[in-house]
Amino acid sequence: MEIINGKKIAKEIKSDLAKEVEQLKRLGVNPALTVILVGNDSASEIYVRSKAKACAEIGISSNILRLSKKIEQKELINLISRINQDAKIHGLLVQLPLPDHLDEDVVVQSVALEKDVDCFCAENVGRMFFGKGEILSCTPAGVVELLRRSGVGIAGKDVVIIGRSRVVGRPLAAMLINLNATVTVCHKQTKNLSEKCAQADILISAAGQAGLVIEEMIKPGAVVIDVGINRTKEGKVVGDVVWSAAERRASLATPVPRGVGPMTIAMLLKNTIIAANIAAKKLNKKQVTK
Ligand code: GUN
Repeated sequence: MEIINGKKIAKEIKSDLAKEVEQLKRLGVNPALTVILVGNDSASEIYVRSKAKACAEIGISSNILRLSKKIEQKELINLISRINQDAKIHGLLVQLPLPDHLDEDVVVQSVALEKDVDCFCAENVGRMFFGKGEILSCTPAGVVELLRRSGVGIAGKDVVIIGRSRVVGRPLAAMLINLNATVTVCHKQTKNLSEKCAQADILISAAGQAGLVIEEMIKPGAVVIDVGINRTKEGKVVGDVVWSAAERRASLATPVPRGVGPMTIAMLLKNTIIAANIAAKKLNKKQVTK
């Protein structure tokens, strides 16, 4: 079995993106991302810090706005509206989860479409579903890019995805259908999960359950993509797939860590640059029509 090294692939992508950032800067556009973090969830804190660090690595400026967990929805939406109107900020994301008193849907939908680097806004999701979007969901786009750069063909393949979340399973299914795969999406109520998975040329687990994917679920020679991030009692980070099972059965597999995780951040950077390019085009139009 060969290992798909997500960290290495993400590094290659980031070095290409750094060149795009330089080009944008030469045009007078400094790509900038704002991250809103409400409250002090420790996992979210780690995520937003790694997003900011990745931005810095390739020359994108980033700003983390840390807000009280007691902030009122109206105040949060007013802040988002102000950032929406700030031409110097190209990407905006609200780190989830939000405290219970805030309506995540309403908050997320208030981000301007052209700054929605998470691809959470309904219209961006709709465009992505029909293969028309420029900005794509980060983790699904990362999975597709990993497959592409590892030389795995997608058209005509039987793909099984375990998990139907808004951030991974559903958008990933749409993207793979658009790339002409035959996609089965499994979830907690799926019957005969093992048998379904064992049919997959490409098996993708995004269930968030350590030890879920065992040997009998992997077709010999299959490609296995592990999107799960789980912490064991001992504090170790593991995926959903039993690694020794993948080693015995798969032809290619992503490890956890250093698999899909680094790709999610690379795709966020890519989306921020796409958003900055959209802004650069607008600026150009204004200058031309002046
Ligand atoms: N929380 C966990 N993953 C994500 C993500 O990709 N985007 C945002 N905004 N919040 C998250």
